[in-house]
Amino acid sequence: MSVLSEELRQKILAYVPRYPNKQAVTLPALHIVQDALRCVPLEAIREIADLLDLSPAEVHDTMSFYGFFRDEKQPLGKTRLWVCRSLACGLRGAEELLDTVCKKLNVQPGGTSADGKITVEFAECIGACEGAPAVLIDDEARMNVTPDKVDALLDELRQ
Ligand code: FES
Repeated sequence: MSVLSEELRQKILAYVPRYPNKQAVTLPALHIVQDALRCVPLEAIREIADLLDLSPAEVHDTMSFYGFFRDEKQPLGKTRLWVCRSLACGLRGAEELLDTVCKKLNVQPGGTSADGKITVEFAECIGACEGAPAVLIDDEARMNVTPDKVDALLDELRQ
């Protein structure tokens, strides 16, 4: 049975006309699959390769080049919470913020809470330095997230 639904396959194929060749669609395809499945399973690598007329090794090479993608052994939680630890955020308590988030969720950076709802990661500058310390909630930046705001933030993300 196919890992990629017809909807996901069509989403990936819709990128083909926008790129100079099918190989260039590998990265968008990996994003589409990970967004939907919260990881890129081995079978999905084969199916992406089939769709794009590539070998599975070529798709896997692209996937493993970026630390962004997860395989089925380490799927993402429902929300991916990135805590910025670059200079501006670091000067305004990012390490303490990351520690607080990890302790409250009982995970190490990169880990996912036991309820499967939140994966915590550290990030380099997310472009929200004026609101340091800042986090990314999937694609959305949130500024001035001090440790005293962590409980409210995690409650929001658990809903
Ligand atoms: S250093 Fe954290 S957003 Fe730029």
